[in-house]
Amino acid sequence: MTYGGSDATVSTLFIDETRHVSKSITVQDIQAYKDRGEKFAALTAYDYTSAQILDRAGVPLLLVGDSLGMVVLGHDTTVPVTLDEMIHHTRAVVRGATRSLVVADLPFLSYQISVEQALENAGRMLQQTGCRAVKVEGGREIAATVKRLVQVGVPVLGHIGYTPQSAHVFGRNRVQGRDFDQGLALVRDALALEAAGAFAVVLELVPRQLAGEIAARLRIPVVGIGSGAECDAEIQVFHDVFGLYQDFCPRHAKRFANVAATIDNAVRDYVGEVTTHVFPSEAQAAAMDTDTLVQIRAYLDQDSFQTASPVPIRR
Ligand code: KIV
Repeated sequence: MTYGGSDATVSTLFIDETRHVSKSITVQDIQAYKDRGEKFAALTAYDYTSAQILDRAGVPLLLVGDSLGMVVLGHDTTVPVTLDEMIHHTRAVVRGATRSLVVADLPFLSYQISVEQALENAGRMLQQTGCRAVKVEGGREIAATVKRLVQVGVPVLGHIGYTPQSAHVFGRNRVQGRDFDQGLALVRDALALEAAGAFAVVLELVPRQLAGEIAARLRIPVVGIGSGAECDAEIQVFHDVFGLYQDFCPRHAKRFANVAATIDNAVRDYVGEVTTHVFPSEAQAAAMDTDTLVQIRAYLDQDSFQTASPVPIRR
């Protein structure tokens, strides 16, 4: 398994929360993929266990997306997600990912109010979770904020096209950039984010031809979701591609597994075995010495103990 290609490009040593020393992916490694013309795959992660699985599989970038509002917390949109919730989940992902670059979404209205607010909340995110970068939605309107964040040392992943925090503005018009004005606006937004210092840009639900055009014009990696094959990288929501989220499967996702169906079957087996006394068996329980049990019973059966504990004995 390689991270960022040859060992020479693998990033610096990183001392994590538990004081382990490990090699982990940096934003420079992410740039190196594009420089080598090598496409990479990224995924969302929301907890320790899934982060461990993806990290072990060599996924270089894990996004703690505010999509957790839907797939983990059951909201209709990402709008209700709070900074505290993002911090809670990001801490878990960071504990599970020893090598992948962990990027955390800054949620709705935690960075749009002012540059100061963005600095404060991005700072909280990095300091309290150990993640290495944040993602913010928006193009030119957010570029000054991105610039300031990068200046103070916060790597930023941009996100344009369909930006889920504005779901109520977009309504059903999810694909962005189909007409001349919108298409041009997206190119300008992407260039503005690059100029502001973003280390990569997510392009969501943009026509594939336009996405290819943007990827060709940007020096930094363009990470597509529902934007075709010509992006420099692809990102998908964990629950969509592994078949965990049953409410719907977006057109841009493909199910590489049907984990919910596997769990359904396993739940049926579990309930069946518990209710028919097959599980747990002796193999799954600890045992004790019979003499000790006899002693305990004799002690408990004494009159003095029975008076002190009026609970009826069930044998
Ligand atoms: O929140 C999210 O999951 C995202 C994506 C880019 C998938 O923003």
